[in-house]
Amino acid sequence: MATKINFSSKIFIVVLAIFMVMFSIQAKADDHQLKETELSGYFHDYISVGPNTPDLLIVGFPGKVWKYDQFGTLSVFDDLLTEGSELTSPKVGRVQGIAVSVSLDGLNAQISGSLVFTNEAYNGSTIQILGVGNQFSLVQEYGVTSRTGKFRYATGYVTMELISFDPSISYALFRGNVTIRHY
Ligand SMILES: *[C@@H]1O[C@H](CO)[C@@H](O)[C@H](O)[C@H]1NC(C)=O
Ligand SMILES: *[C@@H]1O[C@H](CO)[C@@H](O)[C@H](O)[C@H]1NC(C)=O
Repeated sequence: MATKINFSSKIFIVVLAIFMVMFSIQAKADDHQLKETELSGYFHDYISVGPNTPDLLIVGFPGKVWKYDQFGTLSVFDDLLTEGSELTSPKVGRVQGIAVSVSLDGLNAQISGSLVFTNEAYNGSTIQILGVGNQFSLVQEYGVTSRTGKFRYATGYVTMELISFDPSISYALFRGNVTIRHY
């Protein structure tokens, strides 16, 4: 009889331990609810017109003119990202990365870049975007591939919409929308 009681109390302890483990896993999951965040901002792209532009052609095929629509041309960009469409609107961060024209007809570019936040809400956090898109289409979409800081574990996508282009100063204004699910 005594052994039976011991046996069932052992089972009880094991069951209790399992419940405690499950409870702590549950509590941990509750701390990390998946949230969806939509961010919208504007980035100001001054395309290659000289050595000091923030979007610069840096390498291309030897013997070919280096231009955005020439297969194999690589450019680097570091564009201002603001809340509103005006250049003087509050600064959110920078959009930094590289673009390579990867289709033989020169239309598609491989974009590999990061949204580097410096505003109060997301200071120090980054979102990386990657993909191939038609660089001349009015709306482009790229996937979010990795991220840091407040956006850890995020998944999502980014759309880039051309809002205006001023050829006299080679200035393109884009709206970027970021839709992500994160903890
Ligand atoms: C962002 O972080 C940097 C480095 O910690 C700090 O110097 C800067 O003042 C911060 N900016 C804002 C807007 O909080
Ligand atoms: C980006 O977000 C703005 C504001 O919410 C919206 O008006 C616009 O249609 C969105 N653009 C795209 C391509 O989804």
